[in-house]
Amino acid sequence: MEALLPGLSLLLVLLAAGWGNGVGAAWAMSPGGCKHVQSTADCTGRWLSSVPGNLQGDIEELLLNDNTIRVLGHASLLPYPQLKHLSLSKNRLNLIEPGTFLGSQGLHVLSLADNLLFTNYSQTAAALSALPALRTLDLSGNCLTEDMLSVLLLNLPSLESLSVARNAIMRLDSSVFTNLTQLLELNLEKNYIFEIDQAFEGLQKLQRLNIAYNYMPCVVDFGLTQLKVLNVSHNIIEWFLAFESDDLFELEVLDLSHNRLLFFPVLPRQSKLHSLLLKDNEMTFYQRLPNGTSLADVTVQFLIIDGNSTNITTVNLWDEVCYSNLSSLRLLDMSQNQFWYLPEGFLAKMPSLTHLKLNQNCLETFQLSEEDPLAMLTDLDLSQNQLVELQVGAGATLPSLQLFNLSTNRLRVLPAEVFTYTRKITTVDLSRNRLDLCPQPALASEVESPPCVDIRGIETLSRLYLAGCGLQGLAGQPFRGTSLTHLDLSDNQQALSGDPGWLQDLTATLRVLSLRNTSLSSAVVDFSTLQSLAALDLSGNSLSALPASLSAVKLRSLDLRDNCLPALPTDVARTPLARSLQELYLSRNPYNCCTLGWWESLQRVEQLRVPDGRELTCSYDSRTLSARALPETVLRACRWKVANMALLYLVLALPTCLTLLVAFAVVFLMLKQKLLKMLKSRCGASSPY
Ligand SMILES: *[C@@H]1O[C@H](CO)[C@@H](O)[C@H](O)[C@H]1NC(C)=O
Ligand SMILES: *[C@@H]1O[C@H](CO)[C@@H](O)[C@H](O)[C@H]1NC(C)=O
Ligand SMILES: *[C@@H]1O[C@H](CO)[C@@H](O)[C@H](O)[C@H]1NC(C)=O
Ligand SMILES: *[C@@H]1O[C@H](CO)[C@@H](O)[C@H](O)[C@H]1NC(C)=O
Ligand SMILES: *[C@@H]1O[C@H](CO)[C@@H](O)[C@H](O)[C@H]1NC(C)=O
Ligand SMILES: *[C@@H]1O[C@H](CO)[C@@H](O)[C@H](O)[C@H]1NC(C)=O
Ligand SMILES: *[C@@H]1O[C@H](CO)[C@@H](O)[C@H](O)[C@H]1NC(C)=O
Ligand SMILES: *[C@@H]1O[C@H](CO)[C@@H](O)[C@H](O)[C@H]1NC(C)=O
Ligand SMILES: *[C@@H]1O[C@H](CO)[C@@H](O)[C@H](O)[C@H]1NC(C)=O
Repeated sequence: MEALLPGLSLLLVLLAAGWGNGVGAAWAMSPGGCKHVQSTADCTGRWLSSVPGNLQGDIEELLLNDNTIRVLGHASLLPYPQLKHLSLSKNRLNLIEPGTFLGSQGLHVLSLADNLLFTNYSQTAAALSALPALRTLDLSGNCLTEDMLSVLLLNLPSLESLSVARNAIMRLDSSVFTNLTQLLELNLEKNYIFEIDQAFEGLQKLQRLNIAYNYMPCVVDFGLTQLKVLNVSHNIIEWFLAFESDDLFELEVLDLSHNRLLFFPVLPRQSKLHSLLLKDNEMTFYQRLPNGTSLADVTVQFLIIDGNSTNITTVNLWDEVCYSNLSSLRLLDMSQNQFWYLPEGFLAKMPSLTHLKLNQNCLETFQLSEEDPLAMLTDLDLSQNQLVELQVGAGATLPSLQLFNLSTNRLRVLPAEVFTYTRKITTVDLSRNRLDLCPQPALASEVESPPCVDIRGIETLSRLYLAGCGLQGLAGQPFRGTSLTHLDLSDNQQALSGDPGWLQDLTATLRVLSLRNTSLSSAVVDFSTLQSLAALDLSGNSLSALPASLSAVKLRSLDLRDNCLPALPTDVARTPLARSLQELYLSRNPYNCCTLGWWESLQRVEQLRVPDGRELTCSYDSRTLSARALPETVLRACRWKVANMALLYLVLALPTCLTLLVAFAVVFLMLKQKLLKMLKSRCGASSPY
């Protein structure tokens, strides 16, 4: 079938040439190398320096991206009056001649991204002004300044979507977007904008505004009530202040991440905000100071200078959070800031919250109280803080919580109540806290048993991460009553030293187990009981042989990097393990170059991938060589070594053999004489000779 297609298209082209018109050609290659699919002509990347004039006249979409067109001549689109969509990105366009679009009144979508339209922009503007029906225009990457832009946009009243990303815009005022009354979406990403003055007032329908990657120092008196998405990430914003009014803002998504905010933003009082992204700023709350004093009554005054008038706005920053109605907020990302506490009642304002990210802050405690009805919260990330304790007040519940990330803190214990009502919890990450699991053996010297974290009986728990916790042992069935499928015990030097009984609660469910860097030296763990195990990480240990219990386990992924393996068993490729494995990591082991037979046979196992196979090295004669391409000399030397060994054994064995032979001969001779004598005496007669 595939072989037929080129022939068919050739035939169609011939037919088209014969009748001078490609009637009925559903799919054909035109002479310029353009591809026709229904009403689309795709001439992407054909080294064209002008618009081909010999395409089907009724095409509606023409793609000319990635060519070398410099000028769009006024007659170039005349053959295609039906055109609705024209794309010319990544050419070298410096001029669109006025009148070019006179015959293309139906054009809806025009992409001119990544060209050189800054050169003759006024002629190009004149050309664009003949497009009353244009809805989508992409002018990104054309080195345009704001002055050029206001000329280019002067007569595009029907525009709904405009991108001027990656240009040279620095300041925006009311003169730039005046006529764009239908605009819904505006992308100003990656310019040099440091000031915006009333630029969007006329855009009554604007819903999505992207000003990411610019140089805005603040957003003050934000009052675009109709806007749904505002993205001002990656600027240098220190203040965000919404206009103080009780109007309902349509705002749903506000992205202020990667800025320099010092204070929690002053949000519209009434809005539909569901995602508030504040990641990577310098915020904290100031009501309480670390030394215990309170700043409750302090206000901040903003001096807003607008033209020659000055306006002073007084804001009580500490209360301001509470003025906004955040009842629709679902995602709050405050990660990578400097929060060391949350004000009282802060979370209570957000009853719809499902995702709360507070990771990478300086929180020392985290309080959950009855007043914070986080009934919808599914993901709570408190990782990388300084948490010493979690405080869970009576009646505090997190009934929907699924993922609780507490990694990289200083927790030693969790309150017993924390998991009482979390009926949906599946994942708990406690990595990099210094803690132990309950039950702890009561030490004779201490009155109370040391603190521990009790996860027994959390039926829904399926993923538990305990890397780098300094676990002292896993005695007394710490995982009883859970249904763990994923368990990470890596970077725990002592965890496996004791009784391996902990495995017995996991045999039916465990699928992924990491024992990286756990001082595992020999086969202390019997893997053969883990029926469901599919992925096992044994890297960073001191294994000197593949644990024998592994050969019967049907793993899909196994990591053996950074061990002390001189070789794998020679018959490894024939074990059930090798037949099920799909991914095997082997590098950084001191393999012996002369005993790599196992490696050759593994390479022939069909479904098996060794992603780090290139890094596999072996040692020969205290040299480290790549196991992929052993030099012929080494291979020969290895064979010699084997042969030499045989010779050596022979040489060593020879004297022994000889000695034995001689001894045997002597004994035999002696025996023979005795035997003769015996025979003679038995027969009783001396021989006559
Ligand atoms: C357009 O710009 C190019 C490059 O700057 C210049 O050579 C050419 O003369 C200009 N064309 C017109 C019509 O102004
Ligand atoms: C566009 O704005 C200019 C001046 O700002 C005005 O003269 C013109 O009538 C406007 N065009 C439309 C279609 O609104
Ligand atoms: C904001 O823009 C940046 C840069 O384009 C992007 O990475 C980020 O996802 C956007 N934010 C939202 C909420 O879409
Ligand atoms: C706490 O710190 C603030 C600001 O640094 C200071 O003004 C105040 O006097 C301090 N209070 C005490 C009790 O040390
Ligand atoms: C200052 O404002 C007044 C009216 O508010 C106006 O008449 C005057 O031109 C303005 N001065 C400057 C320099 O803008
Ligand atoms: C000053 O701010 C108040 C309230 O924010 C506002 O009503 C008033 O119009 C502003 N005055 C000026 C000159 O901007
Ligand atoms: C907050 O807004 C919701 C609707 O979005 C409304 O039901 C609720 O009464 C408001 N709360 C306050 C305190 O205004
Ligand atoms: C917990 O957070 C850390 C970093 O803060 C991240 O590396 C880890 O993947 C998270 N754990 C889970 C289970 O998502
Ligand atoms: C192994 O674990 C120990 C204890 O957690 C840690 O200090 C060490 O850095 C880890 N080694 C590696 C190579 O990750």
